Amino acid sequence: MAEQSSNPLRRPLPDGIIPEQVVARTENRWLMIMVAMLLVMMAIIVVTGIMGALHPSSNVELIDPTTLHLQGEFVESNLGTAAEPDGSVTVRLIATQYAFVPQCVEVPARVPVKFRLTSADVTHGFLLPDTNVNTMVVPGFVAEVRTRFAKEGEYAMPCHEYCGLGHHAMWAHVRVVPQERFANPTLLERRTCATQ
Ligand code: CUA
Repeated sequence: MAEQSSNPLRRPLPDGIIPEQVVARTENRWLMIMVAMLLVMMAIIVVTGIMGALHPSSNVELIDPTTLHLQGEFVESNLGTAAEPDGSVTVRLIATQYAFVPQCVEVPARVPVKFRLTSADVTHGFLLPDTNVNTMVVPGFVAEVRTRFAKEGEYAMPCHEYCGLGHHAMWAHVRVVPQERFANPTLLERRTCATQ
């Protein structure tokens, strides 16, 4: 190098080193692209949330997960489908590693169905594909979901919240039967699908 500036920062750059201004311009462009991506993603969340009516659970009900089997609404004899005086039904289930109790419940078609679930241990998920039913089941809380089944059929009910090594095997079923066949369910029929 024949002629060198006295200020080391003003020296001509050796080959392959990109000047500071070019680096700054490129970084600015990437920054703007990233901010734009963030804005697009936030917009997608807001728009799909509003269009799909996604919302957090509207009721907050607390329950002691350690005494579920001893007292209250979720004792074993009270699980399954219960007919209400107004013609609707309420289904109570407990999610536990790695099963839902009961394993299969029957509900009548075309009447309001209210699912009430809680967990005895960790967080599980409650999902009925092709319906509006999709919620987390968090220990200490009662999850409530209301729906109505338009036609008869069997719905698989996978746990969709990772809950441990047996998560993939955690399934139950909801069987939707004609209203007439649901007129007077026995205690057994309320808690299994065995008799139909
Ligand atoms: Cu229960 Cu995953």
